[in-house]
Amino acid sequence: MKVVRTISELRREITAFRSTDAEGRAVGFVPTMGYLHEGHASLLRRSAQENGLTVLSVFVNPIQFGPNEDLDKYPRNEERDLQVAVEAGADLVFMPSVVEMYPRPRVTTVAVTEVTDRLCGASRPGHFDGVATVVTKLFNIVQPDRAYFGLKDAQQIAVIERMTQDLNIPVEIVPCPIVREADGLAMSSRNVYLSAAEREQALVLSRSLSRAGEWIGEGLTADRIVARLKDEIGSVPLANIEYVEILTYPNLVPVAEGQPLIHIGDSLLIALAVRFGNTRLIDNRLLIPKEVGAE
Ligand code: PAJ
Repeated sequence: MKVVRTISELRREITAFRSTDAEGRAVGFVPTMGYLHEGHASLLRRSAQENGLTVLSVFVNPIQFGPNEDLDKYPRNEERDLQVAVEAGADLVFMPSVVEMYPRPRVTTVAVTEVTDRLCGASRPGHFDGVATVVTKLFNIVQPDRAYFGLKDAQQIAVIERMTQDLNIPVEIVPCPIVREADGLAMSSRNVYLSAAEREQALVLSRSLSRAGEWIGEGLTADRIVARLKDEIGSVPLANIEYVEILTYPNLVPVAEGQPLIHIGDSLLIALAVRFGNTRLIDNRLLIPKEVGAE
């Protein structure tokens, strides 16, 4: 595994790979902000299985953080990241500085509308402009055949899929399942911020999302299920709800009011963001139509 810090070095490595083995060996790409855990490792393993070269990027992208967010204290551990990366099968790690990625004031932004109107797009203004802009830059730098993203950030996948379609970026977006701790908590670099009591109470998120599947089976409407989720999460003393929503996926629009979800033909996303102290956690459940009917 090789570590590079500049765009020119990265391009040299990828060009060399493509020229030695031009026939059919693909480049897989896993963009991250580091502090890697099993969720990130699952993306790397999948890429390593499906591609001849797996490129990992580790870059805490300042332009996707709001003014009052955790950019300065976002957790970092380069040494451990490299260990996780090598064990999961990464071949090339791109760890650029902020100056390497943004050498001068930026006058160009990639802005995706509509799919960013709700959920994290509504509660974190400008966040997805920052994500779409850095992912476009990274796609242009790496020029991967496939890029791997976790459904933990389901809206992020919807945004990036739509962006690559609208801008004809020749990359296949591969959505990968959410990796959870044994007790159900979705893995996140931000889980390290949680106190023991917050960590314990945060289990309400995965627990209530599982119950929502049962409620769909009982023929409840989206409004009723959202109300029940809010009740259940709200009953936990340290939980502070930011949003709980049920939307169609991947267009992320509200489902028709009053209709039992069990009868809706679209894929559905049940998504939530909840604060525990200063830590903002997100989790979701994506139900594809046959699962909606089955549950
Ligand atoms: P980051 O939060 O580091 O996540 C990198 C990738 O790992 C994302 O695709 C995310 O969905 C995935 N991931 C995180 N936790 C996961 C889990 N528990 N199970 C499965 N996948 C998981 O997302 C970003 O970074 C940034 O916005 C980025 C795309 C790199 C742009 O800066």
